[in-house]
Parts: sequence; structure tokens; C-alpha cells
Amino acid sequence: MSILKPLPHDAAALHVSGSAQYTDDIPTPDNTLHLVFGLSEIAHGRIVKTDLTDVKSASGVSCVLMAKDIPGKNDISPSPFPEPLLSDGTLNYIGQPIFICAATSHLLARRAAKLAKIEYKKKKAIITIEEAIKAKSLLEKPVVYNKGDPENTILNSEFNLNGTINIGGQEHFYLEGQAALAIPHDDGDITIHCSTQHPTEAQHKVADALKKPMNAVRVQVRRMGGGFGGKESQSNALAVACAIMANQTGKPCKMRYDRDDDMIVTGKRHDFRIDYNVGFNGKGKITGIEFKQFVRCGWSADLSLAIADRAMLHSDNAYFLSDAKITSYRLLTNTQSATAFRGFGGPQGMIGIEQVINHISQYLGKDSLTVREQNFYNNPSKRKNEVQTTPYHMQVKDSIIKPLVKQLKSSSNYTKRRLEIENWNNKNKFLKKGLALTPVKFGISFTLTHLNQAGALVHVYQDGSIRINHGGTEMGQGLFQKVAQVAAQEFSQPIENIKITATDTGKVPNTSATAASSGTDLNGMAVKVACEKIKLRLKSFLGKTYKLKATEIEFLNGSIYCKGKEYSFKSIIKQAYENRISLSATGFYATPEIKWDRLKGKGNPFYYFAYGAAVTEVIIDTLTGENRILRVDICHDAGKSINPAIDIGQIQGGYVQGAGWLTTEELIWNEEGKLMTHAPSTYKIPACSDRPRIFHTNLFHYEGNKKQTIYRSKAVGEPPLMLGISALMALNDAIASVGDWDRYALLDTPATPEKILFEIQKQIRGI
Ligand code: MTE
Ligand code: MOS
Repeated sequence: MSILKPLPHDAAALHVSGSAQYTDDIPTPDNTLHLVFGLSEIAHGRIVKTDLTDVKSASGVSCVLMAKDIPGKNDISPSPFPEPLLSDGTLNYIGQPIFICAATSHLLARRAAKLAKIEYKKKKAIITIEEAIKAKSLLEKPVVYNKGDPENTILNSEFNLNGTINIGGQEHFYLEGQAALAIPHDDGDITIHCSTQHPTEAQHKVADALKKPMNAVRVQVRRMGGGFGGKESQSNALAVACAIMANQTGKPCKMRYDRDDDMIVTGKRHDFRIDYNVGFNGKGKITGIEFKQFVRCGWSADLSLAIADRAMLHSDNAYFLSDAKITSYRLLTNTQSATAFRGFGGPQGMIGIEQVINHISQYLGKDSLTVREQNFYNNPSKRKNEVQTTPYHMQVKDSIIKPLVKQLKSSSNYTKRRLEIENWNNKNKFLKKGLALTPVKFGISFTLTHLNQAGALVHVYQDGSIRINHGGTEMGQGLFQKVAQVAAQEFSQPIENIKITATDTGKVPNTSATAASSGTDLNGMAVKVACEKIKLRLKSFLGKTYKLKATEIEFLNGSIYCKGKEYSFKSIIKQAYENRISLSATGFYATPEIKWDRLKGKGNPFYYFAYGAAVTEVIIDTLTGENRILRVDICHDAGKSINPAIDIGQIQGGYVQGAGWLTTEELIWNEEGKLMTHAPSTYKIPACSDRPRIFHTNLFHYEGNKKQTIYRSKAVGEPPLMLGISALMALNDAIASVGDWDRYALLDTPATPEKILFEIQKQIRGI
């Protein structure tokens, strides 16, 4: 058995020894040019005059290109909305690329680009969500999902509350920054090595920019040092810049963003403002709810529409809402174009409902878990008419949130600790503890239905060794290892016999981004299909040669058994080769059952849901607002995990990234729209010392996953990020204890020590 095994990441040894090769580590030819972008210094306006003489004559510079020099399309957009690579004269944010400077070294290119003299005519910039609402600056008209009659049910509810939550964005802070390398060939073709989650889109955009067919462009990526959604579309800029410069100069071209540039140029997680109006009864059961989600998209569409959709699709999280209305406003601002980030809008949508539950529980003086339990989706019911639906009218047939939370409640000792914390808080004047359990229900599939497809290519060589390729990209999440385990399982071969190879648009075409957590689901299946084809051919060959039925041939324990007699895999492969049997196959998979009308807000956008829950215990210093996460307990659903070690790594990493987003990671733009937090000195990601000292992580075991996913496993890439919401809720809980629970504690995010202190003061002074 190669699946269900906690094998280490295939590159673990390379990662820890620093020898894993990333795009920037690929040895470059001597004549390689190094590229940097010249960036806009204003948030909104027009270029009046450009003088690049000093840039061009600076030491080491060999070529400078502007929008007009691009042979084909000046567009790197992942959506139908245009997004120029280089400014077409309009400037839309501080950090927007205006020109590309190529020099003999990275440093010389950086120095030269600074010599540009650009005259601007400034226009009024829209930076914040409030400014965008006021100016009615919308990307498209508001989108509304509606179920039942929320207006009336709220009106007739026993209790009614409303409020506003502000949610900050997040910088991806992948350890490996954005990078690309283009190598031109003698026939006009080009090969691009690029740190991207979406090689096919890079290929497409490069082809369009060069006015060439896609078959002239090959994109390869062996691995990324993290992507987290930040390399789904934002990597296009570097690939296209390198391609057009290589095309112009005939030389290899390489670009890597300096960390500050990376933070200033690229988009981040969307900031949100969420307004809510909720009706509920004395038990805390929600009877009707209305959400207004204001989404800061930045200056261009990028993936914002799909992200804003997913936020709406997760505004119920794990709770059944009988009557709900969600309205989404997609705001255009003069800031970086916000982009995909682990969870893809889902986390922001969930925070809305979690804060509402928090508000209700504090209002009713109940433990928030009691209120959560009142509202969870039911277990699947056999009686069809009793199946509950989401606000977008999809039946939730696979909810396991109740048994999962029950298990976590008991394994984490929730009830006992709740009392202990209450006692502890009564005895301690300045330090206060808080506790919260929050659930996650996350929809798996791309909401753009056609993206749910994948291809694979599997070769068995005549010596019996196997080489696999598929459309997914490796960004540290362990996809390659998990898919290799699938191939090993199918051929019943040791994992060492499976070679994993770089993603390559020349091998598997028309791939989707490795995103939406669907990497293993899609590519694992495609590889399985390819393996099955080869196995079928082997079986038919053996059947004919030895007069056997298909059922009498088995792939088992590393060998092939014919009517119980063992043959080595190698010997059969050799024999098959000599008998001219094809030992190479492609595989293809498309997710079944999904159907979604995004404009109507109706359908089955997801093949299934992944579930999880976390309990976080925190401590705060009420005099300073400083805080710590003391203990975390997680129970997470990965179905029948293909690799429990990798999945637990994803769960713990996801939790920490989520908690970091909501507590320490703060993005600040000044009034002009300049990002002030553009280096690790001012932008605080969680450090090793911030990890919870007690961190219990369990996979939820159950046999009920009825969906035909790859070996009944479930996607695990993004869902755990949202377990981090429990840290925010635990902080709210600790703060509420200061004011004896008589005042609602609602932290905007990130809940930095300053914000915590401010909320504490509100409790103490009764404001
Ligand atoms: N884990 C690591 N180590 N690095 C990453 O960049 N990206 C996350 C998640 N886990 C990421 C990660 C995101 S945003 C997604 S969509 C999934 O991995 C993508 O991979 P998968 O579909 O193979 O799970
Ligand atoms: Mo992940 S945000 O879908 O790349």
C-alpha cells in the first residue's frame, strides 16, 4: 500500500538542506539580462511625459521597453476584464509597472530604473472601502443571493442585532518571491521557467503578448517556495515581461522581484467590510439574516469576481440559514489588484457569520459554542425533503459538523476548560484568558465549472521505472508526493520507483491553476486514469499470451501475479516492451455533478464540502493588549487521507497562517495610497516563537465519504486556514470577560495589540 501512508514530502531533505532548486536557482547563461519594472509613484492619474534617457544610458543597461513596444497584447489579466502589463498612459496605483529595464545584473537594472523622469497629472485617488462606497466605484453591479424572506423573519424575530465588521487584507509572504526566466530559441519559440501556480495561463499570456500561437511557448515549473494564491495570476507579469524582452533582444531574460517590490507591486487578500442584520430567538437560533459584503478589489478585476462570489458562498459557514440575503459590492480602488489567497474569499465570508454568532452569544449571555450548536447543519437525512439547503439553494447532504464538533469538544476538554478559564479570570486582575471553538465547512471545486478538469502523462520505461507528469504545480503543499503515491498504488510499486517531474505545458496541455484546493482531487484522478490504461494493456497482453482472464492477473506487493504465480514487475514490462505494447498513456479527469449559475446564485457549485473545527485558548494582557495563543486543538476532515503526515502539515500551517492574518499581519496604506508595510520589518507574519505550545491535531475518521474522490480522500489545502478564526473569537472572548460580559466585544481584524487594548478600554469605560 502506498496510499494512507505518512511518507515525507518528496523534497523534504532538499528543503531543509537548502538544496531544492527554485526558479531563481536555475543556472543562467552568461549573456542573461536581468529585468526590473519602473513603477508608478502616484495612485491615480495620467503620464504627461516620459524621459528615459538616463535609464537607457546608465551602466549595464541594454534595453528599455514600454507598452508601445509590446508586439502583441499588453494584457496579463486572468479574467475577461483587461489588465495591462505596462501602463497604457493611465496610472492606477502606487507600484504599477510603467516600463521594463534590462541590464547585465539585477542591481544595475534596479539602479538604472530609478533614473526615470516621469511627469504625471494626478487625479483624485480612491483608497479605502469607505471612499469607494462614497464614490460608487464598482467593478460590476451588486450581486445578490436570496433564500426565503429574511426581511420579514428578521422583523418578526424575538431579538434583532446589527453591526459592522472590518476585515483586513493579507500579504502572501511566500518565502520564494516572484521570479521568471525566459530562454529564446533559434526558431522563435520560447521556454519560460516561472514560479507560477498556473503555467497554462502564463503560456497563454506570453503567446498573446508575442503574437504567437500557444505551441511556440513552453512553460515549466518544478516547484515554488509557496504560492498561497499569490502566484495564480500575479506571476503572469514576470513571465510576460521576460518573454517580450527576450523576444526583443534575443537573449535569455530573468526577473525576480525584490521583496519590497513584491509587496508593493502584487495584489493581496481582499479587505472586506461586512454589515449584518440578524434576527434570532432566545436560544440563539438564527431566524433570518442579511449580509452586505463590501469587497476591496483594487484597481483591476484579476480574480475578484470569483473571490467575492466565494465569500458569499461561505457566508453561512457550517450554519443552516433558513432565510438569508447576501449582497456583494465589488469595489474598485487605486490600490494593488487584490487577488487569490488561501480560502479565496471564503475566510472573509465566514468571519461575517462567526462574528454574528459571537454577538448573539454575548447578547444572550450564553457560551458561544451553545449558540453555534443551535445553528449547525443537520447530519445527512435519508428523507429527501428534510435535507437543508445553503443560501444558494444547494442541498447539504454530507454534513458531519455535528459529530466532528462533538469529538473535538470531548478531546479538547472544552466544557471543563471553560469553567477553569472562568475561575482563572475571576482570580486574575490584569491577565485574562479566552476560549473559542469555531467550525469550518468549505466548498470544494472551482466555481467556474470548466476549470474542474485535469490531465496527466505516465510513462513506464522498459526497465520498469515509472515517470509521471500532470498539470498540478508543487508549492510545498505535497501535491507531487501525494500524486506519486497514487501511481505507486496503482502499479503496486514502491514509491522510490516513481519519478516526479516538473510541470510542463509541453507535456500536459490546457491545465487549470493549482488552486481551489483541488490539486490532488483532479491530478490524482488524471494520473490514476493514465495508470489504469497502461495496466489494462498489460493485462490484455498477459491474458492473450498466457490464456488468462483479467481477474487472474493482479498487481500486488510490488509484483505481478498471474493465476497466483509471481512475476517481477520489471520482467513483465520488459516482455511487454519486446512485444510492442505501448507503455505510455495520458489520463484525463473532469469533476462530475457540478452545475452553477453565478448570476442567479443557484445551483451546485461544489462537488462536496470539507469540514473541520478548532478550539483556541488565548491569554491577553489587559494593560498592554499583548497576547498569546496558549493551546490549539483541531479536528479536521481529510476524508481517507492519502498522506496523513502531509495533510496534518497542511492543517497546522493553514491554522497558523489564518491566525497570523487575523492577529499580527497588518497592511497599512497612507492617504496617498502608498503601502507603508512593505517589508518584514513592518509586516509581522507569525514567527516560530508564536506557535501554540500545545497543538493537538487530529484527522476526523469516518467511513461515510460517499463521493468518488481519489481513494475517498478530501481536499485539504485551504480549509484549515479558516480554523484560525477560532483565535480571533478566543480574543473576543477574553476581552468580553473584562467587562463582565455586559458589553459586546467585537474586534476588527487584524486584532493587533492596539486594537485589543482599545476594545478593553471600551469594556472598562463602558463606551
Ligand atoms: N501549502 C504550502 N506549503 N504552500 C502553498 O503555497 N497554497 C495553498 C494550499 N497549501 C500552499 C499550501 C493554497 S492557496 C491552495 S489552493 C492549495 O494549497 C493548492 O494545492 P492543492 O490543491 O494541491 O491542495
Ligand atoms: Mo489557492 S487561493 O486557491 O491558490
